[in-house]
Amino acid sequence: MMAPASTTPVNIEIRRNIRFDFGNSPAVHHRGNAYLSHFWNALSVMAPSTERILMAVARDVRDDIRDERLLIDLKALVAQEALHTREHRRLNTRLAELGYDIEGVNAELDQMFDDYVARVDKPAAVALMIAGEHVIYAMSRALLEDPRMTEGMDAEVKSLFLWHAAEEMEHQSVAHDVYVHLFGDGPSHRLVRARAFADAGRLLLGSLASIMKRLLASEPERTTAQRLEFVRFMAISPGYGRQFGRQALRYFQPGFAPWNDTGDLELIRQTLGAMSPIG
Ligand SMILES: [Fe+2]
Ligand SMILES: [Fe+2]
Repeated sequence: MMAPASTTPVNIEIRRNIRFDFGNSPAVHHRGNAYLSHFWNALSVMAPSTERILMAVARDVRDDIRDERLLIDLKALVAQEALHTREHRRLNTRLAELGYDIEGVNAELDQMFDDYVARVDKPAAVALMIAGEHVIYAMSRALLEDPRMTEGMDAEVKSLFLWHAAEEMEHQSVAHDVYVHLFGDGPSHRLVRARAFADAGRLLLGSLASIMKRLLASEPERTTAQRLEFVRFMAISPGYGRQFGRQALRYFQPGFAPWNDTGDLELIRQTLGAMSPIG
């Protein structure tokens, strides 16, 4: 008997009634630290573009899928991403209203991702999706596994990131399952996926750094002490960047499969359960 194409152990839920309101949220919303806050803000600004390209690749391969359960997973992933985009746009609109210059950023990112996908074949495009989803998974896991990561964050912004992270963990395996189902899993495929990881890392982290810089350029209140706290937050305590890197590098372990059994189900349940009423 063939192994099931879907390795996702949950039914990926589409929580349509989720809605955030950032009307009272400041742009510097994390520990009063401009660097930390604009790190999260830059991720939020990127979200509509990263999710747009993931949805485009997903739609492009949807009709090739011959497994009903995997197709349900993929459609649910697309539906979740569309909702993530809708809610991140609310925060991004708030940032624009507060005077932060983010105009044109998404058009530039969309062009960059479209150019990449137009240059490569279908397996490489799906591989970019796997790598991108894994990078986002790694960010999500690092965020959820230690409550110190979101300590001192504006409640509404915190809820947005926790909700998004938990849903990213729900659909972490889908792109990988689609790739294996359509193209296989031999050594040559692993090479394609390794290359895609390098490209996804470059595109995502490069964009993150430049958008963060742009947000900080229009920030009146930033100090060296804040910058040092940011570095400490990432590298030492609570070590968000360190934890992110540890999760991201699982991608290169022999026999890598995205679903992580070390506590992901429990983290998803706890996070979304504490945020009720959503569902
Ligand atoms: Fe998302
Ligand atoms: Fe995702």
